[in-house]
Amino acid sequence: HCSHELLIPYLTLTGAAVLHTHETKQVLSYTVFPHLHGRVAIVTGGSKGIGYETARQLTSLGMHVIIAGNREEESQNAVRRIREENVKGKVEGCHLDLTSLRSIREFVQTFKDRGLPLHVLVNNAGVMLVPERKTEDGFETHFGLNYLGHFMLTQLLLDTLKHSGKQDSCARIVTVSSATHFVGEINLEDLQSRSCYSSHGAYAQSKLALVLFSYYLQQTLTAEGSHVTANVVDPGVVNTDLYQNVSWPTHLCKQLMSRLLFKSPEQGASTSVYAAASPELEGVGGCYLYNGQRTKSADASYDEELQRRLWRLSCSYVGIQEEGQCSLSSRQLTSQVL
Ligand SMILES: NC(=O)c1ccc[n+]([C@@H]2O[C@H](COP(=O)([O-])OP(=O)(O)OC[C@H]3O[C@@H](n4cnc5c(N)ncnc54)[C@H](OP(=O)(O)O)[C@@H]3O)[C@@H](O)[C@H]2O)c1
Repeated sequence: HCSHELLIPYLTLTGAAVLHTHETKQVLSYTVFPHLHGRVAIVTGGSKGIGYETARQLTSLGMHVIIAGNREEESQNAVRRIREENVKGKVEGCHLDLTSLRSIREFVQTFKDRGLPLHVLVNNAGVMLVPERKTEDGFETHFGLNYLGHFMLTQLLLDTLKHSGKQDSCARIVTVSSATHFVGEINLEDLQSRSCYSSHGAYAQSKLALVLFSYYLQQTLTAEGSHVTANVVDPGVVNTDLYQNVSWPTHLCKQLMSRLLFKSPEQGASTSVYAAASPELEGVGGCYLYNGQRTKSADASYDEELQRRLWRLSCSYVGIQEEGQCSLSSRQLTSQVL
């Protein structure tokens, strides 16, 4: 597993890029979007890359977009750039550090105190191939930030989403995964990758976990008749800073190929925007979307037993009862994980 540290990202990157060659330069325009004035969206990691473009495009559709970003200055720059375009909607920044359950709670509290509805939640933020380290609460970074942070955020915002969704106009949860989830494995006995750390394995696991989570969430939403849908998006291979931690051969490869083969962030955001705003997806959830189309995800992602077990473990990690009630303090849960 660990010995593939260099080889796997290299092969994944080049293989995916070659596969995407014919699509990268295509401007993806799937549908004519309705004007979404007055509808509220939260985009995590909206200060740069795919998230920035998602926030920009949703604002241009008239939405009120909240960029949930970890770095204050970056978020404010993003807000200023979007406002300068003189777009139709409203955009603002709000601090959210997904490596901290305390920060997630504070973000949600600040948002809820304003009494705003929430029509779209885009779980976009992510890191890839970071060296082994732990989040504030003791979780492995990819697992804690990419997956568990979004799991917690979604759980805490679910009541607002449910209130905001209507029968003919569902609230939407859009979760950004990756084709890397196809090589992901969920090790329920060692979700924190303690036995043998591989940054690629940890990233892939976090992205598979997001797909499992999204499918299970959709099942529960359907079962209770909520007017909320949950879909997963695969943006493709996109030229962003996500690749900053790749090994030097992969980095070199990316430098050489990115302009030619990778999607631009604008193209990369198009499926997220499609999932967030397309009339075609009204009331439709539980899909894996790639290039604006529903497609199949990894076989493991449809394993309902695995979905359920991961969901339960995640609830216990973040101190949320399955009904969505918070039961434990961050201090309690840190000691639980460690
Ligand atoms: N690029 C690709 O080829 C590709 C392919 C498949 C999937 N994806 C997925 O697409 C999503 C967006 O990635 P990207 O390519 O746009 O990369 P990016 O340009 O590096 O953007 C990542 C975003 O995540 C945010 N973020 C990082 N740590 C955070 C934290 N602790 N709390 C809150 N936000 C945090 C970053 O904000 P700060 O910089 O302010 O921390 C940044 O806005 C990720 O989930 C990624 O896995 C990307």
